[in-house]
Amino acid sequence: MSHYPALRLRRTRASAWSRRLHAENVLTPADLIWPLFVTEGADEEPIASLPGVSRWSLAKVAERAKEAAALGIPCIALFPNTPPHLRSDDGAEAFNPDNLMCRAIRAIKDAAPEVGVLTDVALDPYTSHGHDGLVDGAGYVLNDETAEVLVRQALVQAEAGADIVAPSDMMDGRVGLIREGLESAGHRNVQIMAYAAKYASGFYGPFRDAVSTRGLLKGDKKTYQMDPANAEEAIREVALDLVEGADSVMVKPGLPYLDIIVRVKSEFGVPVFAYQVSGEYAMIEAAVAVGAAEREAVVLETLMAFKRAGCSGVLTYHAPLAARLLGA
Ligand code: PBG
Repeated sequence: MSHYPALRLRRTRASAWSRRLHAENVLTPADLIWPLFVTEGADEEPIASLPGVSRWSLAKVAERAKEAAALGIPCIALFPNTPPHLRSDDGAEAFNPDNLMCRAIRAIKDAAPEVGVLTDVALDPYTSHGHDGLVDGAGYVLNDETAEVLVRQALVQAEAGADIVAPSDMMDGRVGLIREGLESAGHRNVQIMAYAAKYASGFYGPFRDAVSTRGLLKGDKKTYQMDPANAEEAIREVALDLVEGADSVMVKPGLPYLDIIVRVKSEFGVPVFAYQVSGEYAMIEAAVAVGAAEREAVVLETLMAFKRAGCSGVLTYHAPLAARLLGA
């Protein structure tokens, strides 16, 4: 005799204990990297387009690092809001060993040495034109000249105590040069997380407010960041960065590029990270503000999507909230 239906997939979903038992993926605070903005200004400067996110003074950012440790968040990512008078065409402040970034690294390493510190390697917070590299007379971002400056920038960050340097500039060949520079300077265990597949995205707007580059940026970043139409090219970017010595790779933005994450993970089997960027955070907060979504649920659901896709971890401004929810 035959029974209808032959297979009941709802059977394992019928109770909470069984759902837990059958969960294919888990999300924990250890999956999170918390991006933090640093300022020379007041203790706390809220960022209007990133509701709930602020820039912090050195003392306060050190407190945030201690908070990360208490919440079980293994790593924080740092971004400086360089004062206007220190921004220049050549972005030389980027390799000043006493710049805001380096002082923040030292303050955090003093306060919470157990927390990993990831630093952004790119010139945009330091240039007067808001581009990630050096610009020629025609407005083109110069590749090899920029890469040399990025090496100097990565070295001052490593010297200050950075654990992971993360080039987000998308110049060709920079991962290899930075690796070579780190090895020569004795920083053998400083990791490189390459922003390997970084797209020229409309989702970076609030970040540009946070580091004050929105008003400065001339043109767009399409001659160095990737075209959203391309997937094969992302695979080539990742392959190159791995050959050049990247320890892990990043896909950015996050949710619109889950297909890229899946492909990178299955083709290379290396640690992959997603950056759920500022515009994605703002989109969730905007939906919550009008009652269209419940914050806790959608934050955890989107973060789980990255785990399911194969990520080792996620950079997200919702990190402290998610860690609180997951740690409870
Ligand atoms: C720039 C950089 C950007 C972000 C991280 N590093 C912006 C850009 O490329 O213009 C964006 C992160 C976010 O939107 O949260 N090197």
